[in-house]
Amino acid sequence: MFQLSSAFFRLTLGERPVNEPNQTFRYTAKRVEHIIVRPFNFKFPENINPRWIPGQQVRSHLFNGMSLTMPYLEPFLVQTLREAALAIDNKPLQADIRQFNGQEASHYKCHRQLNDLLKHNGYPSLEIVEALLAQSYLSLSKKSLRTKLAYSAGFECMTNGFTHWMINRRRSLFPRADRHITSFWLMHMVEETEHKTVAFDAYMAYSGAFWPRAIGVLHGSGHVVGFGLRAMWTAIKEDGNHRKLRTAFEMMREVGTMFWNVAPYLLRALSPNHNPRREGDPQWMKDWVAGHAMLPEGAQLPLIDTSAFDMPVPFNHTNAMAKAQ
Ligand SMILES: [Fe+2]
Ligand SMILES: [Fe+2]
Repeated sequence: MFQLSSAFFRLTLGERPVNEPNQTFRYTAKRVEHIIVRPFNFKFPENINPRWIPGQQVRSHLFNGMSLTMPYLEPFLVQTLREAALAIDNKPLQADIRQFNGQEASHYKCHRQLNDLLKHNGYPSLEIVEALLAQSYLSLSKKSLRTKLAYSAGFECMTNGFTHWMINRRRSLFPRADRHITSFWLMHMVEETEHKTVAFDAYMAYSGAFWPRAIGVLHGSGHVVGFGLRAMWTAIKEDGNHRKLRTAFEMMREVGTMFWNVAPYLLRALSPNHNPRREGDPQWMKDWVAGHAMLPEGAQLPLIDTSAFDMPVPFNHTNAMAKAQ
């Protein structure tokens, strides 16, 4: 009886043993031609201000809180996708996974540098949240590959919402903000858009079952945002502003704005027919990718001018000329 019901649930949820990938998966073209692993050669100033968006304490801590999760989340994504690459048999997807892993590895190394400075420059209590993150990702790493892939694909769907929000609303989010942190976050988001299909494809190639993927959307996004908000609150407490009415108002505004902008992407990801290929890419992202391609090899990344009205991509014709010569 137990065996029968267990077989029923395995069929309903689409579970199959490891090394038996989803035979119905077909790789289709991405929106971008290539996923490029670029050097993240940011050198953050030692005395960088953790409250890096002028007049926006809560917003600064919100993004810092998300940054704190990345050196725990992104190695987990890399490890999960590495496992998936061994379990599936699809050359173009395996090539995408290699590039995905290259990009995510650059991201978390750079986030780690930034997070160390945030802790050093006034917020040592963030270490408590880091210890909880380490513990949580250790137990998550022991789950089945399907659960880990569903989490990864779900998280990446939410990231796509973050990408559109942060890039399209950059003028209202980051006016006169620190140029290093703004440039770093937006470059990270550009690459997230570039590889947005990979974790989803890996899940579909390995399993493809709808319900575990839907649960993964809520699990992946809720887990990361939960830790991000916890880190934000920890930093606000460190400032001693956690009992102020103004802080409560700012928190409602900032967290509400985040949910308002990101939730539509999560809702669409919960559809059985979801495919991140249907989500468009911001024009600024395409301009950034084209501009970066013209940078001379080994050149330092130019920083975004956060005091400019439109915050254009930080590349110009000079770069193109330099490349052409
Ligand atoms: Fe990333
Ligand atoms: Fe990603």
